[in-house]
Amino acid sequence: MPIRVKDQEFNVLMSIYEKASNQVLEALKGVQLEYKNIFNKNIVNYFETRIKEPKSIINKMKKKDLELNYKNMIDRVNDIAGVRAICNNKEDIYNMASIIEKVPNWNLILEKDYIKNPKKSGYSGYHIIVEVPVKIYEDSNLLKNQIFVKVEIQLRTMAMDFWATNEHKMKYKTEKKISFWDSKRLAMYAKILNIMEERFSNINKKIEKCI
Ligand code: GTP
Ligand code: MG
Repeated sequence: MPIRVKDQEFNVLMSIYEKASNQVLEALKGVQLEYKNIFNKNIVNYFETRIKEPKSIINKMKKKDLELNYKNMIDRVNDIAGVRAICNNKEDIYNMASIIEKVPNWNLILEKDYIKNPKKSGYSGYHIIVEVPVKIYEDSNLLKNQIFVKVEIQLRTMAMDFWATNEHKMKYKTEKKISFWDSKRLAMYAKILNIMEERFSNINKKIEKCI
């Protein structure tokens, strides 16, 4: 069926993605709480969630040369539901990733480590695509069904998030392209931010040892 974003089907699908992202958010908040109880520190500073705008879904499908139908949307667009966790440092990101890998009933679809291998733009972060089971109720007879829905989890430190948020604003707000030299600068700033964050982290580790 072709995608018509003003139709009932589209809204129903988006509400299922919203349920899936809420479920992931709640589960990760649970991990945060448990971690705090055991280690007395935050593994995640804060969370963000978003459902992809219809316009962005269509744009992404066009970019991938996909026919605009629901099957392609569900199968090929992995980030309709997105949950982002901002952590204090890289160790916390890797700890979080290994916890996410072990959540019962979630299927691990794909992991991308842009921390070990940053993108050419300078972007870094750890991405995990999971499939989570969502209960849906069919019509008024409340027939329950379970389907697996994809959610993209992005793990970033504050410096990674600072860079990505600012670069994203520059890219998408203005029609003009970032110049060649400015993109080189941005890639360099990503490296500087990474070094700065590590130095802050080193000082912090020394302090923590003394406590
Ligand atoms: P696309 O989302 O179509 O690029 O699919 P993909 O499989 O190539 O995903 P990718 O691993 O490139 O990462 C997708 C998400 O990561 C994006 O939606 C952004 O949130 C983030 N991201 C990746 N690269 C960049 C970048 O250069 N700048 C910023 N600001 N964010 C990025
Ligand atoms: Mg991409």
